[in-house]
Amino acid sequence: MTVKRGLFLTLEGVDGAGKSTHVQWMVDTLTSRGVTVLCTREPGGTPIGEKLRELLLHEPMSLECETLLMFAARAEHVRSVIEPALAAGSWVVCDRFTDATFAYQGGGRELGTTKIEALERWVHPDLQPDVTWLFDVPLEVARERLNRTRDKDRFEQEADSFFLRTRQVYLDRAASQAQRFRVVDSTQPIDAIRIELGQQIDNLIRAGSDR
Ligand code: TMP
Repeated sequence: MTVKRGLFLTLEGVDGAGKSTHVQWMVDTLTSRGVTVLCTREPGGTPIGEKLRELLLHEPMSLECETLLMFAARAEHVRSVIEPALAAGSWVVCDRFTDATFAYQGGGRELGTTKIEALERWVHPDLQPDVTWLFDVPLEVARERLNRTRDKDRFEQEADSFFLRTRQVYLDRAASQAQRFRVVDSTQPIDAIRIELGQQIDNLIRAGSDR
């Protein structure tokens, strides 16, 4: 019997968008509906990836180094974790993926898209998320939430202009790839967001059983 490939689900948003509040809840919801789920994150998700994460979040480095390390971690993650899980029929919920590189390095740090597209073609030519939730908030809301965070990492310390460019790339990608993206107004109360997410998850499970 051939195993039905799992779905690849990603969560995105600027720092302070409230994405992390929902990751484990989504995994628990899928599990309670009988779906086998692997939960992972980027940068990270493998022993090497987690070491690279430490460097990426805390060590000053050039934009080239930062972008290449994001994709180095991703290469390891895709080959050793994400692809095998999907092939075995598990669904994968990933806290950030390549959309984050387009938004943060491409937009926030103004690298643009060409080099990132080339790395994407090299590292995961045949893999794209099936669904991406973009948790979206305006600057003031993100700032307010981030102000409650102590020990901010390199990205969380960035200026408002960085945040605005990053958010704009996310919104542009969501608009141009509307099939894949679900934009969540993350200024709503958590319960309201969960009702919306729960319905979307149910639709995915229903569509999945028809595949
Ligand atoms: P997290 O706080 O959501 O775990 O993400 C870690 C930080 O890494 C976050 O500020 C966004 C940043 N990041 C990038 O700049 N580029 C990327 O490709 C990824 C995956 C994350």
